[in-house]
Amino acid sequence: MSNLPYIVGNWKMNGLRAMLTEARAIDRSAARYPKAQVALAPPTTLIFRLRDACAVIGVGGQDCHSEESGAYTGDVSAAMLKDAGSDFTIVGHSERRAIHGETDSTVKAKAEAALAAGLGVIVCVGETEDERDAGKALKIVSKQLDGSLPKGEGVAERLTVAYEPVWAIGTGRVPSIEDIAAMHQSIRKTLDKIYTDAGSDIRILYGGSVKADNASEILAVSEVGGALVGGASLSAESFLAIVGAACAEIDD
Ligand code: 13P
Repeated sequence: MSNLPYIVGNWKMNGLRAMLTEARAIDRSAARYPKAQVALAPPTTLIFRLRDACAVIGVGGQDCHSEESGAYTGDVSAAMLKDAGSDFTIVGHSERRAIHGETDSTVKAKAEAALAAGLGVIVCVGETEDERDAGKALKIVSKQLDGSLPKGEGVAERLTVAYEPVWAIGTGRVPSIEDIAAMHQSIRKTLDKIYTDAGSDIRILYGGSVKADNASEILAVSEVGGALVGGASLSAESFLAIVGAACAEIDD
């Protein structure tokens, strides 16, 4: 498992072929930032093309089905993502949990399927605004981790956790640095408990309104091992500014 900062762009349901220009620009510049690990999760329709167009960055899916194949119209299996050239997939994004009713156990089954197909997996967790206001954020996230994370030998090496407070996604709002630090410490504790020694190497990404102007501060927080970036990953210029901030952080 790499210990470089991991900067992942989640394009969500955005991107036609014209977006390959941005991906190529990101890939070309990523070669100049060897101190960060950079990846993009485009819509499924572009995975194969991105793989073809990019030499340096990782390419991954945004979700997968828990079954390998079968009568699941419209779904995509982890084996298909792998076959299309993916290195990893995101599972359990709050948009999947909220819009598609995915539970912790669904997310865990998907993460297990991803690992079985030979992919790395980024498992997303995060509290809603009501849960934070009620002072339950740490408890909710710890419960999500317990229920969503795949267990077993060799899992930790291919696992990344992304903490994305639901209320910070696409809103321009971010938690205080103290709150990010407290959450990431708490997630680390849970990972240590589940994976013992191997837990300490699992990177914990922060996601939710990460932009060029707040990336340095967020990436400097202890236990923040990178960022999962939505809107700002849609242009090479804004995404590369975040990658640059991650590298500058190491140089300091
Ligand atoms: P934004 O960066 O647009 O807030 O999205 C975050 C996110 O959901 C990434 O998975």
